[in-house]
Amino acid sequence: MTQKPDIRWLKVTDSTNNRALEGIPTEKDKTVWAAEFQTAGRGQRGNKWTSAEAQNLMFSILLKPDFILAKDQFIVSVIVTLGLESYLKTKGVETKIKWPNDIYAQDRKICGILIEHGISGDMLSSSVCGIGLNINQKEFPKDLPNPTSLILELERNGKKDQPAFSLTDELEELVSEIYRFYDKAREEFARTGKYDSLYKFYLERLYRKDEFHRYIETASNKEVEARIIGLSDTACIVLEYCDGSRKSFAFKEISYII
Ligand code: BTN
Repeated sequence: MTQKPDIRWLKVTDSTNNRALEGIPTEKDKTVWAAEFQTAGRGQRGNKWTSAEAQNLMFSILLKPDFILAKDQFIVSVIVTLGLESYLKTKGVETKIKWPNDIYAQDRKICGILIEHGISGDMLSSSVCGIGLNINQKEFPKDLPNPTSLILELERNGKKDQPAFSLTDELEELVSEIYRFYDKAREEFARTGKYDSLYKFYLERLYRKDEFHRYIETASNKEVEARIIGLSDTACIVLEYCDGSRKSFAFKEISYII
């Protein structure tokens, strides 16, 4: 039987990632902190994460994986993004995973993820998975690039009468789905020593895979046309240019033009 997730709801906090990081010495694997409002929400690349009060999910899962090697840490992004994609599908919204770990509905961002790992020797000792998923919000600040929410996507799909979702119920469902992929990863690694089928699943859901689009190579600030063809062994994104040549990029070395 699946256990009810251990979720600690807070009215206000600076950042749920900070609560989960503080919990590392004492709290168990799979503990969750969620907030109705964050005063200092953190995003990728040092950005802030802002969200209307009590309209969206803002939460952090503390994982203490005893089976993930430090070199395989990208599997945590795979687990979390596959859980989100699968949960959103059950709600009626098709999404893709924008490498490394954003969730997009067509060209609109519905979810951002900030993962902070702790390493001990060869192993991953903790992963704080911070997730901001837009649920009920319908209007966003003008300066955010193409944001969307679950309720807006359902409206686009013709479901105009959707009442606001209960955040507590949705969080339980979503976290359970993420844990389903966490358990799959544990099982696949125990059986094969690798995560091939989860990686395959991730690649099948990758935003813009195999399609030519424009990107900016950060180091040279050069705009290029290329297509994503896969991931390298170190989870870098591999682009193929129009002339057939290939190059791989780490996070921050490439940005998408959307
Ligand atoms: C991004 O920049 O796309 C990542 C955003 C991650 C936001 C979430 S909200 C819950 C958790 N707490 C934080 O301070 N950040 C993450």
